Amino acid sequence: MNCSDASIARSTALMRTLRLQLRFLLPLVATLVAAAYLALPLMDKLTLRWFARDLSTRGNLVANTLSDSIVESLSDGRRANRLRSLFNRAVQDERMVAIGLCEPGDRLAVASYGFPPDLSCAQVREAASRPDPELSIAGGAVHAGIYPVQGETGQVGELVLLQDMSFIERRSQDTRRYLLILIIALGVTISLITMVVAQVSWRGWMRGARALLRGEGIVRPLVDEPSPELEPLALELRSRLRDLEDEYRRSLGLESEWTAERLRLLLRTQLRGDEVIVVSNREPYLHQRNEDGSVVVKRPASGLVTAVEPVMRACSGTWIAHGSGSADREVVDANDRIRVPPGHEDYTLRRLWLTEEEEAGYYFGFANEGLWPLCHVAHVRPVFRESDWQRYREVNQRFADAVVAEARSEDPIVLVQDYHFALLPAMVRAKLPRATILTFWHIPWPNPESFGICPWRRELLEGMLGSTILGFHTRYHCKNFIETVDRYLEARIEHEHSVVSYRDDETFIESYPISIEWPDEATVARWPSVDECRLAVRRRLGLPEDQLIACGVDRFDYTKGIVERLHAVERLLEKYPRWIDRFSFVQVAAPTRSSLPEYRVFQDRIKEITERINTRFGNEHWQPVRLLAEHHDSDAVNELYRASEVCVVTSLHDGMNLVCKEYCAARDDEAGVLILSRFAGAARELNEALIVNPYHVEETADALHRALTMPRAEQRERMASLRMTIREANVFRWAGLMLADAGRSRLRERIEARVERYRHRSR
Ligand code: G6P
Repeated sequence: MNCSDASIARSTALMRTLRLQLRFLLPLVATLVAAAYLALPLMDKLTLRWFARDLSTRGNLVANTLSDSIVESLSDGRRANRLRSLFNRAVQDERMVAIGLCEPGDRLAVASYGFPPDLSCAQVREAASRPDPELSIAGGAVHAGIYPVQGETGQVGELVLLQDMSFIERRSQDTRRYLLILIIALGVTISLITMVVAQVSWRGWMRGARALLRGEGIVRPLVDEPSPELEPLALELRSRLRDLEDEYRRSLGLESEWTAERLRLLLRTQLRGDEVIVVSNREPYLHQRNEDGSVVVKRPASGLVTAVEPVMRACSGTWIAHGSGSADREVVDANDRIRVPPGHEDYTLRRLWLTEEEEAGYYFGFANEGLWPLCHVAHVRPVFRESDWQRYREVNQRFADAVVAEARSEDPIVLVQDYHFALLPAMVRAKLPRATILTFWHIPWPNPESFGICPWRRELLEGMLGSTILGFHTRYHCKNFIETVDRYLEARIEHEHSVVSYRDDETFIESYPISIEWPDEATVARWPSVDECRLAVRRRLGLPEDQLIACGVDRFDYTKGIVERLHAVERLLEKYPRWIDRFSFVQVAAPTRSSLPEYRVFQDRIKEITERINTRFGNEHWQPVRLLAEHHDSDAVNELYRASEVCVVTSLHDGMNLVCKEYCAARDDEAGVLILSRFAGAARELNEALIVNPYHVEETADALHRALTMPRAEQRERMASLRMTIREANVFRWAGLMLADAGRSRLRERIEARVERYRHRSR
């Protein structure tokens, strides 16, 4: 994420927080304003009443105090003057405005100064009888009170007291001010508390919801608040977890289509966007210097690259691989990194350089002269040299160190590819114990006896068991691997769950059939039509117009059954001479590992057989076999697929084989026939192909004939079904199932760690 992305993300988060808090605060503020609006007049009323009551009490007191003097004065002849001066003294009190005496008959007999001349006794009595005995006089509002004055013979008159009420208004104002301050202070305090509580509880709730989505919420209460009676349940949980995982995996198989977007979503949700690091020997893009000095980018011929590259485009992350292109060093940055694919730059390619000696020992020697023939039972003897083994170990360590160096967290997801890195999983595990290591073995795994001839079988198995998950293309290869571990290591094997426990680590062994990226509509729209492809291929190869074409597209490798295929073509022409002059077999054979003697001998042999067949059946206008022993880019291969009536895949042993899947994907016209070896992993999925035993030349020749004569309707039926299978079981499903298992494994580890903590505490 760049700086501006980060600041946009920050301000979006801030806005979300503000919105969230406003949602809590607005109702609160509204409530407080309403409270103030209702409370203040009520407060005024109450204050007035309280003070009125006080004034009445005070009036009583004053009346009682004065009554004796009044009775005395009334018995005196100069009573009026005495009383007035008594009243005048009394009104010196700042709250007393005026005093008067009403005689029976409501006549005002004596009044102090300040007594309103037009105020009658009757008016005062009427005001005093109201709940708020307030009177308006010239000086302002006064409290009117009228109190009986008792003499020895009974009531002698009534004392009128007018008391000042302005102080009530002043006090009311003070009270109102204090109340307002109190409400505001209360509002601010409650708002602050609400904001904090809202923030904390919202985050907690969100965390809880997310955890629940990840399935954590179910167990957290159990393990965070342990109680002894729950211990058996916690232990039971551990074993049930695996059963649930198994069930979940089975249900995944029935799901809808896998796409790059769905894979990205899985990474974001189940793996919380954790980083992905791929390690393979072969790099996805090579920079080559041409003879004219220009630099070109090439995609190598590799099933591994074909499959993993679209996954990396979807996942981003870092791909670590051997930089083997002649101009590779010129285009990387100071850290040997380059963003790829060119022009899109979806992920980082980190190149690692090998010396010639390292490459000779690790790649050509141990990997390709030892492990490759060991795992492909293809009648080429494996060669195991001590020096190659040393280089293999060293290079595995170098790549493992690069993984650790590239990792930005303690628990990255590391996707280890193929037989070049059997030791790397345990090496990474030693330095990043919390990493999730998914190793995928792209080639077959032999039976224990065959594998047993490797002098370092134990070390290889131990290295691979550093993986969290170990994937093969088929169940058959998984079974072979588990039996091999059983034979050569003291490991615990849970066959039911396909889990191997070795030392402190557990490895889940599973089959994940690899596939291709299904071409989207835009890609298909760019393809030239099938007729255009036919025309182009025939022109390029100088083939007559009415030729039917069968193609083979492989690396020039002895496991691909190219000899057997050519023998089948020869047999076809022998057995069905009608195809002479009417059929061409085009074999694309991308040069590979050519510095190894086995490969050179094999490639020479193919050239010889081709020449022999062409000499035997060909003429000056037509040659039955076209051997194109050079690298073809994906457009050229696609054009050939679309131009070919038949595609022939006759591997003697193949983990999966993606050529057969690419051929079907290229035939959006639902025409063409696939002939497929029963020894390729793909034969287990692609039942509508013509399945052959490549060692049985006659059978393959008959299959060729059948394919060339197959009615269009049957072709369409078979091809439509093949295409549907491949479209559904595409490469995103392959990666998705593996990564979903990785996500569950991470979750299980978290749960188990909590269960362990709990058991530890409860001991
Ligand atoms: C097979 C292997 C891959 C390898 C590819 C090409 O598909 O499984 O790991 O990349 O062959 O071989 P190369 O030796 O050229 O990489």
